[in-house]
Amino acid sequence: KETKDQLIIDAGQKHFGATTCKSCGMVYATCSPEDELQHAQHHHRFLEGIRYAGWKKERVVAEFWDGKIVMVLPRDPTYAIRKVEEVQELVDNELGFHQVVPRYPNKTKTFLFISDEKKVVGCLIAEPIKQAFRVLSEPSGPESPSSKECHRAWQCSDVPEPAVCGISRIWVFRLKRRKRIARRLVDTLRNWFMFGCFLSVNEIAFSDPTPDGKLFATKYCNT
Ligand code: ACO
Ligand code: ZN
Repeated sequence: KETKDQLIIDAGQKHFGATTCKSCGMVYATCSPEDELQHAQHHHRFLEGIRYAGWKKERVVAEFWDGKIVMVLPRDPTYAIRKVEEVQELVDNELGFHQVVPRYPNKTKTFLFISDEKKVVGCLIAEPIKQAFRVLSEPSGPESPSSKECHRAWQCSDVPEPAVCGISRIWVFRLKRRKRIARRLVDTLRNWFMFGCFLSVNEIAFSDPTPDGKLFATKYCNT
């Protein structure tokens, strides 16, 4: 049996390497039906977006001329939690994250920006934290732009600062970026994360920001 397994692995390496889809950017193995299915699903969500039909019980926490923000809490009905999981899957695939379970799943608050076309065009997932490390403005030393990991390895201060709220994901549908959707999501989070107070920018922290995330966070925190 061992020999057979080994043969399969060898064949995989020789004939079917990992492929990167030119449209959605997902890396997947064409030899694996499971991977292909996952790719087909991500590909469709990436191009078309995720539909939101409306819920009987929805918590609308902000309304705008071009959409609204709905907050989802851990004890909400299954249909709401499923929608959040669907969005998180899209976001994590897009960011190249491996599925990670939130550290405080029962304290997570999720904010979905719903467009007038009834699509989820923005998502912010936040959790309580106690401290954060400030990102120092530029990484020191020569830059090596070869890998994604290098781009993410911002230099952080080693002095922890107290914080209240960690943003574990912030994402806007690619066709809706630069319309202040992320800004409105963070404003709404600051208002709704803790009952009865508006969090200051010093009390929120972005975890492991991407280059886009860092540009946004820098701009947001300075205005
Ligand atoms: N480049 C330069 N400046 C930017 C960028 C960018 N890509 N994105 C935002 N900004 C700055 C701008 O100053 C902008 O104001 P302006 O348009 O008037 O100049 C300001 O931030 C506000 O931007 P918004 O319009 O509110 O941001 P947007 O809705 O486009 O969303 C986001 C920003 C969420 C980072 C989006 O680009 C995205 O989804 N990117 C892919 C996913 C990602 O990388 N998310 C961050 C991961 S890190 C984390 O989750 C903790
Ligand atoms: Zn694709």
